[in-house]
Amino acid sequence: MLKSARIAVFVSGGGTNLQALLDAQRDGKIPHGEIALVISSQACAYALERAEKANVPAHTVPSSLIQHDFEAAIELLLEQYKIDVIVLAGFLSILSENFTKKWPRRILNIHPSLIPAFCGVGFYGLHVHEGVLARGAKVTGATVHFVNEIADDGPIILQKPVAVQPDDTPEILQKRVMQEAEWLILPRAVSLFCDNKLEVKGRTVRVLS
Ligand code: GRF
Repeated sequence: MLKSARIAVFVSGGGTNLQALLDAQRDGKIPHGEIALVISSQACAYALERAEKANVPAHTVPSSLIQHDFEAAIELLLEQYKIDVIVLAGFLSILSENFTKKWPRRILNIHPSLIPAFCGVGFYGLHVHEGVLARGAKVTGATVHFVNEIADDGPIILQKPVAVQPDDTPEILQKRVMQEAEWLILPRAVSLFCDNKLEVKGRTVRVLS
């Protein structure tokens, strides 16, 4: 019997991906995981209200702290709540190599494009979708990947394509990518992780049956 993996979700904004995880947990779709902690880099993040409504302990570690103090405060919370895996869900702060190397293949991130397209430094939030539309791409989507020391560079876990429509604005496209991809593949990837169903070899992730 797998013990339940204790999950920390890092947020910075609206928390719609956090909500997708909370809803999946409620619906029994993450049977071997428990969302035990939410950490926000912004005190005003609506994601904090979502955590409170779901009775999940939540703390703000302000991104205004210097990197060393920011990460030390986070690490203290991760220890206090006995966290096994970190999920970045709309988290806009950088985690240093010093931090990420302590969590090899135990930090997952949701990115709103089909990596390696439209990712890396500067590609976050609406900027991703602005780039997709400016390039005239016909297909975009979302990616869940492991986090390493380079932005959006870790092994890809799951991806889901989304068609770009002729009249899309960045806002319309962002919403569709969230609804049709992000909110589906993030809970699925977290559940697979908690079920020990992700086999990583080099930069390739295989989902075990
Ligand atoms: C989402 O598009 C997510 O992919 C990106 O940040 C946006 C906001 O996420 N990382 P959320 O609503 O705060 O989950």
